[in-house]
Amino acid sequence: MATNRAPHREPTVVGPRRSILVKTIITGILAFTVMIGVTILIIWLTIKPRKPAYSINNGSIHDYNLSKDNHLNASFNFVLRSFNPSKSMAVYYDKMKITLLFEHETIASGVIDSWHQHKRNRTSFELDLTSHNVKLSGALPRNIEMAKSSNQVVVDVKLKGRIRSKLGIWKSRYYHMTVSCGNVVVEFSNSSNGSRWALCDVDF
Ligand SMILES: *[C@@H]1O[C@H](CO)[C@@H](O)[C@H](O)[C@H]1NC(C)=O
Ligand SMILES: *[C@@H]1O[C@H](CO)[C@@H](O)[C@H](O)[C@H]1NC(C)=O
Ligand SMILES: *[C@@H]1O[C@H](CO)[C@@H](O)[C@H](O)[C@H]1NC(C)=O
Ligand SMILES: *[C@@H]1O[C@H](CO)[C@@H](O)[C@H](O)[C@H]1NC(C)=O
Ligand SMILES: *[C@@H]1O[C@H](CO)[C@@H](O)[C@H](O)[C@H]1NC(C)=O
Ligand SMILES: *[C@@H]1O[C@H](CO)[C@@H](O)[C@H](O)[C@H]1NC(C)=O
Repeated sequence: MATNRAPHREPTVVGPRRSILVKTIITGILAFTVMIGVTILIIWLTIKPRKPAYSINNGSIHDYNLSKDNHLNASFNFVLRSFNPSKSMAVYYDKMKITLLFEHETIASGVIDSWHQHKRNRTSFELDLTSHNVKLSGALPRNIEMAKSSNQVVVDVKLKGRIRSKLGIWKSRYYHMTVSCGNVVVEFSNSSNGSRWALCDVDF
């Protein structure tokens, strides 16, 4: 009876054993893949860039001309300084848009092309923001002429762009960044004494 059963039992016992083994291997591979995926996701989500520090100085205006019908041509120059405080991560910048606001109105603009900044690096940019036939309305023409007669004008400078950080081979997702430099003094005559570095606000 036993010899009769054996060949009968073999397929029914070995079959499930094999499929259990295959299932275990597949489950293991799946679990491993999911773990790797989750690890990558966690790294990707946690290597958020550290806030870079921005400051601005040496503001001056050149080629100022306000026409009788209140159109402005001018060139605004600044030195903008950027510092990456991270000891381990580089920062990758997309092209940044720069706008210059006088009494909450955009009167000049410029760009900084994409670039990257190594850890602990400090970089200075010489900004040249231009007003090209910009129509000033309301009280703006009068106020900017008054500012000219006192030889300095107070403006806000804003930068907008996307940044991501790089840690070894890992790159984070993109973060939107806004840099706001408020109450920046711009001199009409380039005495360029360069007051002090005015710190800008940085937000993600
Ligand atoms: C300002 O612009 C007007 C019109 O383009 C021109 O006639 C005038 O000479 C300019 N003034 C200066 C100081 O450049
Ligand atoms: C600004 O410059 C343009 C040419 O670049 C000129 O046509 C225009 O008249 C200028 N406007 C003023 C106010 O100078
Ligand atoms: C900072 O980075 C810029 C551009 O990547 C480079 O030209 C400059 O030499 C670096 N400065 C220092 C102090 O490493
Ligand atoms: C102001 O700067 C311009 C160009 O940067 C230069 O040509 C001019 O001589 C400077 N003026 C003074 C008073 O420094
Ligand atoms: C520039 O600096 C000199 C000497 O420190 C000072 O006498 C002068 O008033 C300053 N000019 C401006 C426009 O701040
Ligand atoms: C900015 O001003 C400082 C004086 O505070 C001067 O030493 C420096 O050369 C100026 N930088 C530029 C780019 O004009």
